[in-house]
Amino acid sequence: MLAIVQTMLDFHLIFSKNNWFSNETLVIASPGRINIIGEHTDYNDGFVLPAAVDKAVYLAIAPRNDDEIHLYAHDFEGSYQTSLDAIAPLPDSHWANYILGVVAQLQKADYPLKGFNAAMVSDVPIGAGLSSSAAVECATVFALNHLYQLGIDKITMVQMAQKAEHEFVGVMCGIMDMFASMMGKKDHVIKLDCRSLAYEYVPLNLGNYKLVLLNTNVKHSLASSAYNTRRQECEKAVQLVAEEEPGITALRDVNTAMLDAYVKPAHPLIDKRARFVVEEIARLQTACEKLQQGDLHSLGQLMTATHNGLSRDYEVSCRELDWLADFVKENPAVLGSRMMGGGFGGCTINIVAQNAIDDLVASITPAYEAANGLPLSHYVVTTGDGTNIVQG
Ligand code: GLA
Repeated sequence: MLAIVQTMLDFHLIFSKNNWFSNETLVIASPGRINIIGEHTDYNDGFVLPAAVDKAVYLAIAPRNDDEIHLYAHDFEGSYQTSLDAIAPLPDSHWANYILGVVAQLQKADYPLKGFNAAMVSDVPIGAGLSSSAAVECATVFALNHLYQLGIDKITMVQMAQKAEHEFVGVMCGIMDMFASMMGKKDHVIKLDCRSLAYEYVPLNLGNYKLVLLNTNVKHSLASSAYNTRRQECEKAVQLVAEEEPGITALRDVNTAMLDAYVKPAHPLIDKRARFVVEEIARLQTACEKLQQGDLHSLGQLMTATHNGLSRDYEVSCRELDWLADFVKENPAVLGSRMMGGGFGGCTINIVAQNAIDDLVASITPAYEAANGLPLSHYVVTTGDGTNIVQG
């Protein structure tokens, strides 16, 4: 609660500083996300099991009478100004791309827009793998849809946010992050079929356990290029299988026997990547059953298996993530631990007994800093609702 109060205070500072907003200003909250299991499966038409968290990007937005766009990002202490007829991606991973990319999608679909002022502030840690970028995109599309009464349904907004990331940020991401941010539901995870976009809310009953994120504070600079390479490797595997088995269009359709027959002999690296994905899609189904049965110990073991696959076979982990997963391995209070999200930095997600969290943090924080030369941050997160109106 405190964090949100602080956030709103920050907003009032921004309001008065810029004199942009009135009492009618629309304020949207769009949360970050976690993912229990099902990593690198979304762009392979598989399943994911994410949730929105209780940390959000807040976007305050007000219409203008002209075609100008004036933006302010509190966390970057930066402003940016452009106009509707000059929307183009900015170089050097500029924060405004996440907003402008959404504007470009709306323009492409011929929605009538006017200029606007927007300021954002966030308590989603940036670069920690909690998808603050998807949260900004979802906040923007939701805000503009509401402001200009565009009548766009939520799933289409999710798809537009994903396209914004593809075209303005250059990461060929799947749909998980935006879906979780927009569609999240408190106390639930979302079992999402990334092929059909059919979804189901599964209650997240953790009893005396909590979700603890341990942030390596490694900024994933390799992430976008390596991410796109993994995606291509998966597509290559699909192509090899489809040459022999027409009708196969994604790793969702592939089984390990097909990999043995058509991929492994000639392309061991492609096989290793694809095999992880095929196994992960199956692992998610089991994990979801275990969660529904309240068998958190088995769920935790599956998370550990996912970490090992991501680290050894998919090769998207890093030394610091592996160190964190390894440190908690023998701790009976930690049921499962794995790297989360795209990889090469960010957080591990851990299921930890509530009464053991303080001890864990007290021991792992100095040990991590001594071994890795970086500070360790931790967040005890709960699930929250998806993109919503805070004021307006
Ligand atoms: C990033 C992407 C998602 C997903 C994950 C890995 O967060 O944005 O679409 O692919 O990596 O599961």
